[in-house]
Amino acid sequence: MCGIVGYIGKSAAPSILINGLRRLEYRGYDSAGLAIVEDGKIIVAKAPGKVVSLSDRARDTWPTERFSQVSYGIAHTRWATHGPPTEVNAHPHLDQSGDIALVHNGIIENYRSLRARLEAKGHLFLSETDTEVLSHLIGDRYDGNLFQAVCDALHQVEGTFGIAVISVKEPGKIITARRGSPIVLGIGEGETIIASDAAAILTHTQRVIYLDDNDIAIVTADSIEIRDLHNVPVNREVAELDFDSSAAEKGGFAHFMLKEIHEQPESLRNAIRGRLDFNLGSSVLSGMGTSPRDLAEINRVVLVGCGTSLHSGLIGEYAFEDLADTHAEVQQAAEFRYRNPIISRSDLVIAISQSGETADTLAAVREANQKGAFVMGLCNVVGSTIARETGRGIYLHAGPEISVASTKAFTCQVTVLLMMALKMGRSRRFSRQEGMDFARQIEAIPALVEQVILQNDHIAAVAERYAKNEHAFFIGRGPLYPVALEGALKLKEISYIHAEGYHAAELKHGPIALLENGTLVIALANDIPGKDKTLGNVEECKARGARILGIITAGDHEAAEIMDDVIEIPACHPLVATIPTAVALQLLAYHIANIRGCEIDQPRNLAKSVTVE
Ligand code: G6P
Repeated sequence: MCGIVGYIGKSAAPSILINGLRRLEYRGYDSAGLAIVEDGKIIVAKAPGKVVSLSDRARDTWPTERFSQVSYGIAHTRWATHGPPTEVNAHPHLDQSGDIALVHNGIIENYRSLRARLEAKGHLFLSETDTEVLSHLIGDRYDGNLFQAVCDALHQVEGTFGIAVISVKEPGKIITARRGSPIVLGIGEGETIIASDAAAILTHTQRVIYLDDNDIAIVTADSIEIRDLHNVPVNREVAELDFDSSAAEKGGFAHFMLKEIHEQPESLRNAIRGRLDFNLGSSVLSGMGTSPRDLAEINRVVLVGCGTSLHSGLIGEYAFEDLADTHAEVQQAAEFRYRNPIISRSDLVIAISQSGETADTLAAVREANQKGAFVMGLCNVVGSTIARETGRGIYLHAGPEISVASTKAFTCQVTVLLMMALKMGRSRRFSRQEGMDFARQIEAIPALVEQVILQNDHIAAVAERYAKNEHAFFIGRGPLYPVALEGALKLKEISYIHAEGYHAAELKHGPIALLENGTLVIALANDIPGKDKTLGNVEECKARGARILGIITAGDHEAAEIMDDVIEIPACHPLVATIPTAVALQLLAYHIANIRGCEIDQPRNLAKSVTVE
């Protein structure tokens, strides 16, 4: 989603800003822009499309020899919400006088009424955005003190923001603030970098400060002063980024997605390392902050998340029921606070989010906290808002995930949920021996995934046979049902093939009407309880002319005979089978999208981190 970069220091700002935006490209966006101050004037360059177009535009605006003269500026990648991704709607936006420039992530919910008020005072707006209203509001409040003007304007704003603001009247200074949309400040030697995501900072420095909600900072090349919106100074700790910059490179793979699929054995090992106790037949998850007694007292587990993280939650639901005899349910994070979630103090709410910044999941965390539930985060990004607001939880250790389509975070989420369910199971029904057996199953996950990845060439060949299909149906039962949903999501998001996931039994209650000669059905028919019924559903599809790609257990000849093509998954526990099966579907989606020439790492319209509702 939208990205912010600000720079102030001794180097040429335009190229640093553009490089920073490149590092944020993975988040998904559709236009870009930057603003600097030159000869007492704000100069803006913007372009629809990719950062490379902005870079060309900037080169036209400032000949190279002038680049080095500019030592600070702000830049933005925009994921369109209010108004299409045109040049005029791209950020930065100026105030009425043209002296103040602003970049903004988030949404100003009351922008219509603010705009009407400003228009009545004679303000003229050029764009359709909510952001331009905020820049005018700041200009309207400006009385010789930019910090105060931003403060005053933010007091009138409803909604979410991460912003960076400059003014020609106060050179050598950037004002930045956040509410619900992250801002990180990188502390360099005689330079400060502002960004919405640490990825834009790590080539400059590892030392960072994360702003909290309602923090507003005055940033210069060698100072950072943070206050709250009532002008009271606040102290924020300096943290060290634990981020290997090679993670932001493709490392010889054609796409980040393919690299991240291949990284899974390693990321899964990292997620599991030190967390299984074979002696006790349990898992060691200190971040959960619970004693066995707390766990025994938990009545119900509620899992919330969005997109792929919602799907891992659906697998978690099966795991908590099967392993821990605990009532578990998944709720869409986006609905959570708008219905009346029946939550009590004996409920454990697990918020699942790779980025830890998804607006709907964060709002669900706040609602669950309000209702007194025991709330935990399951995040990948260390220091992210959800991780910090939940205060307890488990990091995935999947490593940075750059591709918009989530792969390694998903398999790590499922693995960590299995470990949580194991721990809870041991406080309830699981014997030590049963716990030990399941811990061994979890330990084997990275090797199982390796065996699937070894079939990469075979899966690419299978993909060739189906890449021209325009529709696909994924079916599965038990814990493989959520995997069918996730397989369909992966395929549609990167290949743009219309794909739907169904419980195998549901297909005949409607969707079967869509089957005709050659329709692709991907049947998750691993040898787990219910397989025979899934094979029956496959026969129903075949009888209507569908072509069947079966995901089956290695050596299952009975299942193989029914299918047109197969991908084999090593035999394992049904809950564990979800992981290698999902990896096979990731590879299938990847190869189909690649054959179709799609832009795999940054699919159209999608964003990596969705910080608006
Ligand atoms: C976006 C991404 C998805 C992701 C979802 C939830 O839609 O494109 O890949 O699953 O957000 O993100 P989160 O960071 O909360 O897991």
